[in-house]
Amino acid sequence: MAASLNVVILAAGEGKRLGGSRPKVLVPLWGRPALRYPFDMASALDPERIIVVVGAHEAACREALDRPEASKSGEKRPIPGPAVEFARQEQPRGTGDAVLAARGALQGTTGPVLVINGDTPLIPGAALTSLLSLHHEKQAAVTVLTTRIAAPGAYGRLVRDATGEPTAIVEAADADDETLAIDEVNAGVWVLDGGWALEALSRLGSDNAQGEVYLTDILAQARSEGRPAAALCWEEPEDLLGFNDQQDLALVRSVLRERILAGHLLNGVEIVDPDTTWIDADVIIAPGARILPCSVIEGATRIAEGCEVGPFSHLREGTVMQAGSEVGNFVETKKTVLGPKSKAKHLTYLGDTQVGSASNIGAGTITANYDGRDKHATIIGDRVFIGSGTVIVAPAELKHGAATGAGAIVTRSSVIGAGEVWVGVPARKLGAPRQDKG
Ligand code: UD1
Ligand code: CA
Repeated sequence: MAASLNVVILAAGEGKRLGGSRPKVLVPLWGRPALRYPFDMASALDPERIIVVVGAHEAACREALDRPEASKSGEKRPIPGPAVEFARQEQPRGTGDAVLAARGALQGTTGPVLVINGDTPLIPGAALTSLLSLHHEKQAAVTVLTTRIAAPGAYGRLVRDATGEPTAIVEAADADDETLAIDEVNAGVWVLDGGWALEALSRLGSDNAQGEVYLTDILAQARSEGRPAAALCWEEPEDLLGFNDQQDLALVRSVLRERILAGHLLNGVEIVDPDTTWIDADVIIAPGARILPCSVIEGATRIAEGCEVGPFSHLREGTVMQAGSEVGNFVETKKTVLGPKSKAKHLTYLGDTQVGSASNIGAGTITANYDGRDKHATIIGDRVFIGSGTVIVAPAELKHGAATGAGAIVTRSSVIGAGEVWVGVPARKLGAPRQDKG
């Protein structure tokens, strides 16, 4: 089955109900664009092809799915995966019209086509495989994923006949009170029989409250042609949450956040207060590391065994903490490697900085990495001691065993030699090299 599976992800909607100008599938959710979530789940099915239906934001959608992954050493490499194609829907004329936009790419497809709304980031792989199995088992023309929601709001309602067979989906905007009272809703995930559905879709009209071609009408269409339609009711509604407005989005974010935290806890990471810890989806933390309250850990940050983060730390994109290193309160890092057992415990900014092993970054140290035009690197060696309140104007290098005095301003392009002690403003070498006790 996998060899002939095609996937279509609908990502051309404008997301007007969210406010702002960003298309909703590109909204960042814990460091990843929302579209990446259903895309990764679909990729895991090893389909022949994934076709992403995009609108005016095609370039940004392509970029969002260009999935570089930081390797352990920090450099980026592409993740292997199925062939990805982009189909253009010039105007967002509805979800049915969006699937039709992929018709060219799907030419000649007779097998199953899995269609996923791009705004369903919590969808588990098991829901997709169960849906495909049911579709196969029922030899259905259309199989739709549903769930029960106590207050189903704007979701489309699934209508079943007296025998329990699904007969139609009615959008909330088109529903009468009796239909609105139905609590089984369309999750926006489908398996269509490619040989029939693409042609059938082109026969659907747009005579409805929103003047759109609804994908949902394909179900009644199948029934009217005497073709089997199936619906799989998923027991966990949380898995199928979509997001149309900021309220929905906040809910999706919080569910996803809890899942990310639970993953780390199950893996043996000590998160002292999950309620005040925010960790992006691509962060990797070794078991045994401790995360203290009020910490924000972003991007593809890596935290090795024996590390301690927080309280009140902000680790940004490109941070690598090697074994036993520590960051403490009001420390921000970006594109920074903190070597084994090195510490930055208080009130510090480290940007574009490499720190070797067992170095101590004193309270209030700032790497001034940005000169208003370019970013510059700071290289700090092993067993370096940076005195409190040191400002290092990058580019700069502090070699093995070097030290600065409290309040030193290390000016641009300085190279502090091994074991040298520099003090003052601007910092200058002080007497004989320091004894390295390490
Ligand atoms: C849709 C379903 C609704 C279901 C809900 C589940 C339809 C008509 N309605 O409603 O029954 O309960 O999802 O979350 O299908 N898109 C396009 N092109 C378009 C319109 C939408 O690509 O012309 C994409 C959007 O980017 C989005 C997805 O399709 O990723 C769903 O569109 P959205 O407007 O969110 O549909 P809902 O109103 O939520
Ligand atoms: Ca939606």
